[in-house]
Amino acid sequence: MDGQTLQEILIICVCFPLYCYGQYQVPTPTFEAFKPKGFRVSIPDDEKVELFAFHGKINKPIIQIEPGDFSQDVLKAVNGRFSYTDPNIKLKENDVINYWIFVQHDQLGFRIDEQSWTVDELRPIEELNEVSRCINPRITTEEPNKLCPGDEIIHDTFSGKAIDLNTWKVEQYIPEELDFPLNIYKNSPEIVEIVDDTLQIRTQLAQNFSQNINLNPGCTRTDNMFCAKSNRHQTVMWNQPTVSGKLTSKRTFSAFVNITIRAKLPKGDYVYPEIYLQDVANPESLILIAFTRGNENYEKNGIDIGGKQLYGGPYNISIKDAKNPHNYLAIYKNAEHIGNKWHTFRANLGPDGLNFYIDDQLYGRFSSVSSPYADFKQIEMVRLVLGIAVGGHSLFPDGYTSSGKEKPYKNLDRYSVRDFLSKSSWLETWSSDTGLQVDYVTVTAL
Ligand SMILES: *[C@@H]1O[C@H](CO)[C@@H](O)[C@H](O)[C@H]1NC(C)=O
Ligand SMILES: *[C@@H]1O[C@H](CO)[C@@H](O)[C@H](O)[C@H]1NC(C)=O
Ligand SMILES: *[C@@H]1O[C@H](CO)[C@@H](O)[C@H](O)[C@H]1NC(C)=O
Repeated sequence: MDGQTLQEILIICVCFPLYCYGQYQVPTPTFEAFKPKGFRVSIPDDEKVELFAFHGKINKPIIQIEPGDFSQDVLKAVNGRFSYTDPNIKLKENDVINYWIFVQHDQLGFRIDEQSWTVDELRPIEELNEVSRCINPRITTEEPNKLCPGDEIIHDTFSGKAIDLNTWKVEQYIPEELDFPLNIYKNSPEIVEIVDDTLQIRTQLAQNFSQNINLNPGCTRTDNMFCAKSNRHQTVMWNQPTVSGKLTSKRTFSAFVNITIRAKLPKGDYVYPEIYLQDVANPESLILIAFTRGNENYEKNGIDIGGKQLYGGPYNISIKDAKNPHNYLAIYKNAEHIGNKWHTFRANLGPDGLNFYIDDQLYGRFSSVSSPYADFKQIEMVRLVLGIAVGGHSLFPDGYTSSGKEKPYKNLDRYSVRDFLSKSSWLETWSSDTGLQVDYVTVTAL
């Protein structure tokens, strides 16, 4: 169609922005210049855009309603945008494109005159050739393909017979790091499996905890200190007395995301769920999606920080502040142990801050100033972790009792494993509920 004729037909109903207050505002177009050549300009569709006409001239003024050196009427949105693409226009930095555009929106015409755009960068031509699904995606993953807002980064309903190894790595190593939990991670069906469309991760007593530990073959770490330990001198004090499991997402991403997990959290003394995002570059830096202690209660001076409390928020697991390990976390107080029932845990991690929900109820909110860990303006690459662990050296502060029984070990004490084992009344609290069950997990890009 001849753009000028069309424009003449529509000029009678052109609505200038001055008179259109409160109505459709033509969005500022997104311009992209490519090297060695190629040019694209686009506006988002809002389902009422019927036509997008672009008229431009390079480094020369364009007068109102002049067709220009290049122009096109775009009548159809592709992947949510009305785009004018010309693969042959050759631009260089600081070239100025003078243009006017015309948009027909819900049967009204809108014209924006006397505009200009200066080429500020030349993007690789591959970005023009690949199907442009969204402009300037904020989301990056290790894979070259880009993601758009609304795309699912991770989605698993655990409905297969086995764990989807494209999505997850099933860990097997000795966690000689971070909070030094009192378990090893093992990839075995007694520990990690799918039952009735549910991911189940369990923990159990290591039968031969004082023997040599050798997690080769199948160890998921390269450094052998995480894979094998020999039975010399104090290993009886140091070797992990329990076995549990952990999945880490293969996909890492740097994005603002919504995370939804329907899960039943573990119950049992000194067991805790590991449901968090972990910074790939700084593994001590976590965003806890759902943390609770497996203990029915965990009390000191009448204050109970046991399983009736759910925690969420950014957390640095290296900060072993025994007085108040969860100083900065959001807390939800439940009438009963959180692990008694299935719940839906959600985290909305957006540019304005982090929001945490249980069963659609908002219980925690962090702006980038309210937490020293919440400055997510410069979000780093993270991965999702689903697992359970036992004990550790910061998550169960000393001086508390669990159902009246003293904590069996002291944080950061070299005899912690021995003491944990010798005062093993915690084992009586472990049952078939001492596992993490996950119905589904979804991570959606925002
Ligand atoms: C993300 O979560 C927020 C807060 O619950 C919600 O308003 C928004 O619609 C969600 N976005 C997506 C893409 O799921
Ligand atoms: C524990 O160690 C004993 C003696 O070395 C061995 O016979 C037994 O098979 C081991 N049990 C397990 C579960 O590894
Ligand atoms: C976490 O805390 C440790 C110990 O205070 C500190 O060295 C480290 O830099 C912190 N990490 C991040 C990502 O803030």
